[in-house]
Amino acid sequence: MARRHSTASSQAESSLTASGVTVAFGGFKALTDVTMSITPGSVHGLIGPNGAGKTTMVNTLTGFQAPTTGSVALGGKEVGRMSPHQLRREGVARTFQAGRLFTGLDVLDNLAVTGVGLGHSRSGSEAEALRVLGWMGVPHLAERPAAGLPYTDERRVGIARALMFAPDFLLLDEPAAGMSEAEAGDLAALIARVATELGTGVLLIEHNVGLVLSVSQHVYVLDAGQVIEEGDVDVILKSQVVRDAYFGADQEAA
Ligand SMILES: Nc1ncnc2c1ncn2[C@@H]1O[C@H](COP(=O)(O)OP(=O)(O)O)[C@@H](O)[C@H]1O
Ligand SMILES: [Mg+2]
Repeated sequence: MARRHSTASSQAESSLTASGVTVAFGGFKALTDVTMSITPGSVHGLIGPNGAGKTTMVNTLTGFQAPTTGSVALGGKEVGRMSPHQLRREGVARTFQAGRLFTGLDVLDNLAVTGVGLGHSRSGSEAEALRVLGWMGVPHLAERPAAGLPYTDERRVGIARALMFAPDFLLLDEPAAGMSEAEAGDLAALIARVATELGTGVLLIEHNVGLVLSVSQHVYVLDAGQVIEEGDVDVILKSQVVRDAYFGADQEAA
C-alpha cells in the first residue's frame, strides 16, 4: 500500500472523468449530461435526494452501466464500455450499498479471493489482505467468518476488499448507512486517510450530508439526474439551489 506521488499536471491526466454522460432506461433519463471528475489524493462528495441518480453515476464510473451518450475516461483513455472486472484491474474499485461478502468464507479469504481475481497469487493476495486489514486497524477480523459480522465490521471489510492492491480510485456508495454518529465519524477518518495516505481518489456518496461535507474537498450535488451545484464545502453550504433541492422552496420562507 504505497503512497503515490503525483504533480498537479499528472493529476489531471490520471483522473477518472465522466463527460456529458446521459443514462437512459427506456424513456427515463436517470442521468442527463453529467460531467464529473475524480482526481487522485482527494475526497469528492456526491450528494442528492433519493432517486437523484447517485448509484447510477457510480455504476457508470465503474463499468456496471454503460453511458447511453457521453464518455467515461480514465487517465484520458475511454473506458465507458469496459466491464467492471476490467476497470477494477485498471484501478477503479467500489463498494456496494449492500455488503455482498462471500458469507461462506472468512474475512481473509474474502479479501484474498479479490486479489486472486485481480491476477495475483494466493499467497501474495493473503499477504496483501493482512496488510490492508492492519492498515485499517482491524487485523483481528482476518479469521472471522464473514457471515454474522457486526454491521459496521461488514462495511469495513467491504472497504478493505475494495482497497486490495491499492486502487487509484475508490467509489463508496453510502458506506455509513445504518451507522451511529460515532461510527460514521470513525469511517470519515478512515476515508480521509485513504486519500491522504494512499493517494487514492475517492468518490463518497452519503445520505449523511454532514459526513460528506466534513471530509470532502469537492462536492457534486445531483438532483433528478443533473448536477445542480458543485464546488468546495463553502460553495455547497451557501448554495440556494442546494437548499431548494433538499428542503423545498416553501421551507425557505418559513
Ligand atoms: N436499471 C434501472 N432501470 C430503470 N430505472 C432505474 C434503473 N436504475 C435506476 N433507475 C432509476 O433511476 C433513478 C436514479 O436511481 P439511483 O441512481 O439508484 O438514485 P440514487 O442512488 O440517487 O438514489 C431512479 O428513479 C431509479 O428508479
Ligand atoms: Mg443509491
